[in-house]
Amino acid sequence: MIETICIIIGTRPEVIKMSPVVRACERQEGSDWFMIHTGQHYSYNMDRVFFEQLELPDAKYNLDVGSGMHGEQTGRMLTGIEKILIAEKPDVVLVEGDTNTVLAGALAGSKLGIRVGHVEAGLRSYDRRMPEELNRVVADHISDYLFAPTVQSKDILLGEGISNEKIFVTGNTVVDAVYQNLKIINGRDDWDENLESLFGSGLALEPDRYFLATAHRQENVDDATRFAGILRGLELVSEEFSLPVIYPIHPRARKMMEEFSLDAVGVTFIEPLDYLSFLKLESDARLVLTDSGGVQEETCILKVPCVTLRDNTERPETAEVGANVLSGVDSEKILEGARTMIGRKRDWKNPFGDGNAGEMIVGITTNSGRS
Ligand code: UD1
Ligand code: UDP
Repeated sequence: MIETICIIIGTRPEVIKMSPVVRACERQEGSDWFMIHTGQHYSYNMDRVFFEQLELPDAKYNLDVGSGMHGEQTGRMLTGIEKILIAEKPDVVLVEGDTNTVLAGALAGSKLGIRVGHVEAGLRSYDRRMPEELNRVVADHISDYLFAPTVQSKDILLGEGISNEKIFVTGNTVVDAVYQNLKIINGRDDWDENLESLFGSGLALEPDRYFLATAHRQENVDDATRFAGILRGLELVSEEFSLPVIYPIHPRARKMMEEFSLDAVGVTFIEPLDYLSFLKLESDARLVLTDSGGVQEETCILKVPCVTLRDNTERPETAEVGANVLSGVDSEKILEGARTMIGRKRDWKNPFGDGNAGEMIVGITTNSGRS
């Protein structure tokens, strides 16, 4: 019996983290698969650039839902995904992470009686004000396969009453993505020209002589006081260490910065980067300051110290191994976080697996359906 897998994606991190699953599907004999893109992200540098650079096949369907209020956006996805699933009748739906795309995909699949696999299951910030927390809790509780990145995330799921047979510790697919793409980066010798084309000749970036920052979370950038605290913190860090901060700015953050008329001295704001350029900047940075989930993981894998601009994290493994510290958004606390992390010995172990999560996930999904 041939299993048909439907992969549902919609945002930048899902394209990146599902890419190893897509590659595993392409390699797997006896499985059929197709992809739905909800269109939650649609700007070239938030979406298409990753398909081109990672040489991913196009989605069979793109729902083009675009931006909107949570209910409106999720509702449009739900309607669109449901119609496709009814027509295509896949055996399994795979979703990744905690976005509105994940909520819609998992809900549409499970209500139609299709088995749902949640990649990156069992993460909890225990902060229900975050839209992502609501999405991941619902997705976990309606899924049939929970692909937990660590034993810690498996234990969280068991603690919530989810049965052991549904849970598989696979590692995080971001490790596969980092390893696969680091190889490409290390094989390229045109990084100086590439960085010059990104920044112009005015800003010479030497490895270890700059900070990298990203912040885009709704609870941070949609709140003028919190966003101002983050930007002031980046200013203080740049000033204290006399190093520039590079901030590839997410469109949500760009919009809110303009709306609140905010700015920051010592911080260079650039457009969102393609994956290889971002990974290169991340691996050569002295320190990364971020509120991104994926960036907390990647810095931990790359052995680059990280300060997380949040009050909590659903990736506590990064802090436990010594790769990450939580600063919140108070500017002095951000500076304190940078002071703590800047001299941190980079000898921690990556807790997110060995880079075979994509293969494992597809193997489990296709084999367990067969009788
Ligand atoms: C979404 C996810 C978040 C994830 C992030 C990854 C939810 C609830 N949030 O947040 O968990 O960390 O993606 O980046 O699913 N915009 C563009 N172009 C785009 C996409 C967005 O300009 O391609 C702008 C629009 O002004 C839009 C805003 O960004 O209103 C927010 O986009 P949205 O997809 O709603 O949420 P993100 O902040 O991207
Ligand atoms: N990323 C990128 N270009 C950028 C910023 C981030 O390619 O300019 C990648 C980063 O390497 C990581 C992912 O985007 O793999 C993280 O996405 P984001 O921070 O938008 O979402 P989150 O992980 O917080 O959900």
